[in-house]
Amino acid sequence: MLDLNNVSYDTMIPNNVGLSQDRRVLKALEKWHPGYINWWNDLIPQNFQESLVYLRTAVSVDPKGWAKFDYVKMPEYRWGILLAPAVEDRRIPCGEHAGQPAWQEVPGEYRAMLRRLIVIQGDTEPASVEQQRFLGKTAPSLYDMRNLFQVNVEEGRHLWAMVYLLQKYFGRDGREEADGLLQRSSGSEEAPRMLGAFNEETPDWLSFFMFTYFTDRDGKMQLESLAQSGFDPLSRTCRFMLTEEAHHMFVGETGVGRTIQRTCEAMNEAGITDPYEIDKVRALGVIDLPTIQKKLNLHYTLSLDLFGGEVSTNAANAFNAGIKGRYMENRIEDDHKLTGATYPVSEVAGDVIRVADAPALTAINMRLRDDYTRDAAGGVGRWNKIISKAGIDFELKLPHEGFHRQIGVFAGVPVTPEGRVISAEEWEAKRAEWLPTRADGDFIQSLMVPTFETGKYAGWIAPPKVGIDNKPGDFEYVKLHMA
Ligand SMILES: [Fe+2]
Ligand SMILES: [Fe+2]
Repeated sequence: MLDLNNVSYDTMIPNNVGLSQDRRVLKALEKWHPGYINWWNDLIPQNFQESLVYLRTAVSVDPKGWAKFDYVKMPEYRWGILLAPAVEDRRIPCGEHAGQPAWQEVPGEYRAMLRRLIVIQGDTEPASVEQQRFLGKTAPSLYDMRNLFQVNVEEGRHLWAMVYLLQKYFGRDGREEADGLLQRSSGSEEAPRMLGAFNEETPDWLSFFMFTYFTDRDGKMQLESLAQSGFDPLSRTCRFMLTEEAHHMFVGETGVGRTIQRTCEAMNEAGITDPYEIDKVRALGVIDLPTIQKKLNLHYTLSLDLFGGEVSTNAANAFNAGIKGRYMENRIEDDHKLTGATYPVSEVAGDVIRVADAPALTAINMRLRDDYTRDAAGGVGRWNKIISKAGIDFELKLPHEGFHRQIGVFAGVPVTPEGRVISAEEWEAKRAEWLPTRADGDFIQSLMVPTFETGKYAGWIAPPKVGIDNKPGDFEYVKLHMA
């Protein structure tokens, strides 16, 4: 009998979906595999292909035992297809079919919608690996390098997860979409990735930490709402992906936190109390707090754009179809159909921002984005604790939803981080105070010197409080093998 909780290694592809008995899908995946390996090998700087990285790999998907840590060469990492255990008698949680048994096959009427959602999710996974491809070379420690590579291999696995759904449930066009996921690439002129934030560069480690904190968190929210899908294989896939995603946000939150920590320590050691004495702070070889705020502004606002328009009929249709639920849909107490319900959405009239009630069904994106903002605020609060503990008078803030937006009601509207509509000229004049400039980027880049000695950390970042897998910070997380 097939045990869905244990991963079988009887094919090239570790899985708990009974691949060895599913010849058609196994064949399709085996055909796709070499292209994937080529993609991976093209991305990772040669120097690291042979290095042994202390990675966790899934050996089982039950909550306690799914991760096993060991040294692995990345090209030999066993990307697998892993679904969270089926929930018995699971029902479609929302929309017009709410309460009916969850679909185990693709519902014909929603096929195109479902395929599109899977392709968009799938497209973001390899995109982030592409964006982060140069970071290994400037890792501030072996610990950080290991975390980067862990995130990378897991995003690779998330791609596998979406490719499996496409190949198992969508026949020929699913296979074509699976190939397309390896053809587009981040920042490409001819074939860019599908979403804006995934075509931006991740040029330095502070960007990486901000990205994993803010943009991976958009990923988390999307996965949370797809985990509520009435299409059960999608739900189960996303539930397992979420367990991996938690680590990505941990990397982001602690990475930014350690950067802040080091800045505060250096300021205190040098007796600098004014965080706006930027040149003096920078001369210490650490990143000044106002620049960290600017990076936060950038990554948070790019991530808000990923939620799409505040009011959206696509989002309403997906909810109504039962294909995509709300955050924690199964814990919300209402009719799960949103008949007659409203939700507050901001709108701009001249230079006034006001809130009006929109039908809750069309405001699904807005609601998810609000849930995201609440979730993202938690870490910002913890970063501020680090600053106040160090006795420095500075507070990081999430900017207003209207600031620096390219999608939705605020697209192109000149709004300050505090939420005031100003003239376009005034906004441009202030831009360099609010968003990272070329010079800020160059300064951060100048700090990105590789620190590859076991237990050593670059001067701009504090060591972690604890390591990975209960290992200390000076554990040899990567055994480098330089070609
Ligand atoms: Fe992912
Ligand atoms: Fe992620």
